[in-house]
Amino acid sequence: MTLPDVAPTDHPLLRIENVTVDFDGFKALNDLDLTLEAGSLTVVIGPNGAGKSTMCDTVIGRVRASEGRILFRGEDISKLSEHRIVERGICRKFQTPGVLIGLSVIDNLLIAAAKDRRWWASFMLRASGENRRKAEEVLELVGLQSRRDALAGELSHGEKQWLEIGMVVATEAELLLLDEPTAGMGAAESTRTAEIVRGLIGRHAVLVIDHDIDFVEQLGGHVVVLHQGHLFKQGSMAQIRGDDEVAAIYLGRPKS
Ligand SMILES: Nc1ncnc2c1ncn2[C@@H]1O[C@H](COP(=O)(O)OP(=O)(O)OP(=O)(O)O)[C@@H](O)[C@H]1O
Ligand SMILES: [Mg+2]
Repeated sequence: MTLPDVAPTDHPLLRIENVTVDFDGFKALNDLDLTLEAGSLTVVIGPNGAGKSTMCDTVIGRVRASEGRILFRGEDISKLSEHRIVERGICRKFQTPGVLIGLSVIDNLLIAAAKDRRWWASFMLRASGENRRKAEEVLELVGLQSRRDALAGELSHGEKQWLEIGMVVATEAELLLLDEPTAGMGAAESTRTAEIVRGLIGRHAVLVIDHDIDFVEQLGGHVVVLHQGHLFKQGSMAQIRGDDEVAAIYLGRPKS
């Protein structure tokens, strides 16, 4: 990638400031407070239903906070539309792959790289040289060079996930939200995914949600544990692994 390293600013990249999300009386997020710095890697773990996906939905503007606010580079984005938030530089990969199966791998990346989304329908005619270079760079970053001209629909499950990570990266968003990038992957594919994600640190801030503890260990980032919509603990994976309270909530039983 030719992107410059992220420029330092006075504000943290993202502040989730005492955010509560209320679904008809059920608090999926409950006074959640979390700060992400530019270029950092944060891994969010926690039991099913802890609020991890809701946190991403709220950052991207798909779900609204009933209390608190979300600041991106110091700007309050809590009231902006999802479209405007994406424009500001936040991009989210969903739990299930969302590639365009009828298009080739490189064309999927080109679409993602196209800055002006109104031209999506005619991107083939308008893809600039710059977008093409970016798409080729990302292709290499996610290790899909040999699959460049294959239809996305022909890819294996793991390859589809890597393509989708590539599509998120190709947007050049400063903050990437990856919700369960190893879902359905075997051990070797998860290891490769960890390498890909680690390759993004510095140029992007990355927030990864995952259940696979081996993968989280391989990532080696700052680990945040969510529980009942609240930030329960944070620290290195070694600290989190050795924490009895985390074991109790995350594994559903006290550590033996
Ligand atoms: N739109 C909604 N309306 C009502 N309740 C919701 C809605 N979305 C999520 N929830 C509830 O909020 C809680 C948090 O859900 P969320 O999907 O954020 O959890 P998660 O940590 O991502 O879980 P998982 O590990 O299973 O993906 C769950 O109890 C879920 O049922
Ligand atoms: Mg989820």
